[in-house]
Amino acid sequence: MTTYRIAPSILSADFARLGEEVRNVVAAGADIIHFDVMDNHYVPNLTIGPLVCQAIRPHVQVPIDVHLMVKPVDRIIPDFAKAGADIITFHPEASEHIDRTLQLIRDNGCKAGLVFNPATPMHYLEHVMDKIDMILIMSVNPGFGGQSFIPEALKKIAIARRMIDESGRDIMLEVDGGIKAENIAAAAAAGADTFVAGSAIFGKPDYKAVIDAMRVELAT
Ligand code: DX5
Ligand code: ZN
Repeated sequence: MTTYRIAPSILSADFARLGEEVRNVVAAGADIIHFDVMDNHYVPNLTIGPLVCQAIRPHVQVPIDVHLMVKPVDRIIPDFAKAGADIITFHPEASEHIDRTLQLIRDNGCKAGLVFNPATPMHYLEHVMDKIDMILIMSVNPGFGGQSFIPEALKKIAIARRMIDESGRDIMLEVDGGIKAENIAAAAAAGADTFVAGSAIFGKPDYKAVIDAMRVELAT
């Protein structure tokens, strides 16, 4: 039986009350905190860095999943590891040496993953599967919360699922962008096991009601 994980993206949380927000969303049933890092260079938006990761770290026991939308990536990785990140993912287009960046993340004691934009081909995975702990399929173009799910992502989730099964390794398959209770089952059917949701959760007053509704969809 698949273990499904709900990973709220704090991009849509109230940043003025971030400690309380992460505690509340974990109490509501979040399995992972998804932490979106944007640099106004690789993506056209600017968000949060290692200091904020360090600040929320004592507030939650669940893993912090740092999604780096930055270029270059390597020099910020040790800072996020020190700040308490558990998983660090990056976009292959943003790294000069993908294998080296994956190894750098692992050498810093974190799980490592690659992120695929809607138009990024999956072949970047072919020769590095042994260094991958998570594959993240973007179902929107990165940069903003609240965008609509791009259905083509389902095909890429299915491709990633096949590659994971063929590898025989324990690799999380995460989907990010436009996920809500209405489409989470389709993403799961395609093979995803970890679901990022920002606006769908933080945009509603009752986080538990949303997460519970997602779990109902995943159970049916
Ligand atoms: C987009 C980010 C997402 C975003 C998801 O670049 O990577 O994690 O916060 O937000 P929603 O769930 O609102 O699409
Ligand atoms: Zn993200």
